[in-house]
Formats: sequence, structure tokens, C-alpha cells
Amino acid sequence: MLLLANAEAWPGFPLTVEMLRAGADSLDAMVAGIGRVEAEPRVRSVGYGGWPNMLGAMECDAAVMNGTTREIGSVGAVPDTIPVAALAQAVMQRLPHVMLTGTGARRFASEIGFSVDEVLIEDSRRVWRERLEAELDAEQLARFPDIPLAPLSRAITDPERVRDTTVFLSADRRRGIHTATSTSGWAWKYPGRLGDSPIPGAGFYADSRYGAAVCTHTGEMTMRCATARTIVLALKLGRSLREAVDLAVEELAELAEGFLGGVVIHAADAEGHHEVVNFRCEGEIRYWLWDDTMAEPELRPARTI
Ligand code: GLY
Repeated sequence: MLLLANAEAWPGFPLTVEMLRAGADSLDAMVAGIGRVEAEPRVRSVGYGGWPNMLGAMECDAAVMNGTTREIGSVGAVPDTIPVAALAQAVMQRLPHVMLTGTGARRFASEIGFSVDEVLIEDSRRVWRERLEAELDAEQLARFPDIPLAPLSRAITDPERVRDTTVFLSADRRRGIHTATSTSGWAWKYPGRLGDSPIPGAGFYADSRYGAAVCTHTGEMTMRCATARTIVLALKLGRSLREAVDLAVEELAELAEGFLGGVVIHAADAEGHHEVVNFRCEGEIRYWLWDDTMAEPELRPARTI
């Protein structure tokens, strides 16, 4: 049994480990762990602690993938909801669809008994308001939000520099290989913007026969390259895990136009190997690792490319 997650997963990783040790279903354990991350205001890129969009509204994205059945549940730009990974799992379990967005996702949440949550914490509201007042002139402020947001979107690209998310990946010979993701996305994103966390093949992909990958940071990069699917397909075609990840990184590095940014890839194969690589993200990137030979989870440095 192997469990990987990014460093932001710290509030929930121990719970997931505990549940896996007790024999829980892998996706249930990961969704429960992510629920703790989503509820933790000190994690500034996921759920309750995240930053709002340009209108000062929180819109969260999440997904789960069962690598054995290749069933997926995904939600995007969901308002008023903190446990969005659990909502994504409910989409997978209760609907014939893969993905719900926006008000439809919120409607489904209410139908199945999720509370309507206040997701924006006071600190995020204050920082958002201060930046708005710094960026707009008096006339724009008076008309806000009835002003074009696109010019503002180009001028202010994620000022809080939050492109992380939370990603979990579990791999077990018996229980299969599965993934779960959750994020509030970029600070100051254009309303309705989806990152890669809810997009199958970009921010996540799992196939229990071969392996899985989950990505953090700039979703605009992994969506252009279908990064997670590329890795799993390369494994299927016989590449080693390192070769598969390096191929995905080569594809990211080929991008030269449009918005460019860093990506962190977390990947594992069906033989129990794992790779976590940092492609052009600032600072030291670390990740959580636990396998059933380890007494405690370890925080390890990613390989920088
Ligand atoms: N990878 C998270 C995002 O792009 O929103």
C-alpha cells in the first residue's frame, strides 16, 4: 500500500493513513483526509482557507477517480460548499454523469443534504478588498462589479501566488490505484475558471493496471498537455515510471506561448514505485509519503527538473 499527497495535505494525511491501516476503502479514506484539508483555514489553496475569484466569491474544484473501474466524479466552480471532494465522490456514486459545475453542482449538493457553507474567511475577504481598492480607480470601484474583468485578469495574475491544491494518490495491489483532488484555484481567477483539479487526464488520472498521476500548480499547463493521462498512457505502452514522468515534463517544457507556469507531478505505478517532480515551481517542493512498511508518514523533497 502506497499513499502520496502534496505538502498541503498535512491536516488530513494522518487520517487517511489511519483509515487505510484499518482497511477502509481507498477513496473513502482519501476523501475523508481531504475533508480535513478543505476545512483548515491555514491551508490557503483549498476550501475554507482559499482565496476568492475576482468578484470576491469562492469557487472550488475537486475530483475523484477509481482506477479500477475508471469511474470519475468531478465538480467545478462550486459556490458555498467546503467539502467538494465528498461532493465529487457523490457525483460518481449517484449520477450517470462525470462532472457538474457551478449552480448545478450546488443544487445537487443541497439535494443530497450538504449544508450551504460560508467559504470565504475574513482574512481572504480583507486582502481581496484591499487589492481591489489598489488596482481600480475611483470610477471603476464605483461601478464594480459591472466593469470588464478581463483586463484586470491579465494585470493581476494570482497575486497571492497560490497555485497549489491538494492531491492524494493511493496504490495497492488489492484495493487498486485511485486519486482525489481539491482546490480553490488561483487567487483572483476570472469567475468560472476551472483549474486542472477537476479535469480528467490533466490534473489527475488513474488506471489500476498501470498507475496514476496527480498534478498541482499551474492547471493551465497540464490541461494543455493532458499531463496525467500522458503518464498513465506511457506506462501502458511500457515506459518505466521515470520515463513516463520525464515524457510528460518534456511536453510541458515544449510549451513556449501563452500563459506559462510551474507544475508538480505526483505519480505511482502498479509495481509500487513513485515519482514526485517539480517542473519550474519556485522554492522547495515537498510531498507526503506513506507505505505500509513505514511507521509514520514522511515529508520528502520532490525531484527538481
Ligand atoms: N492546479 C490547480 C489549479 O490550477 O487550479
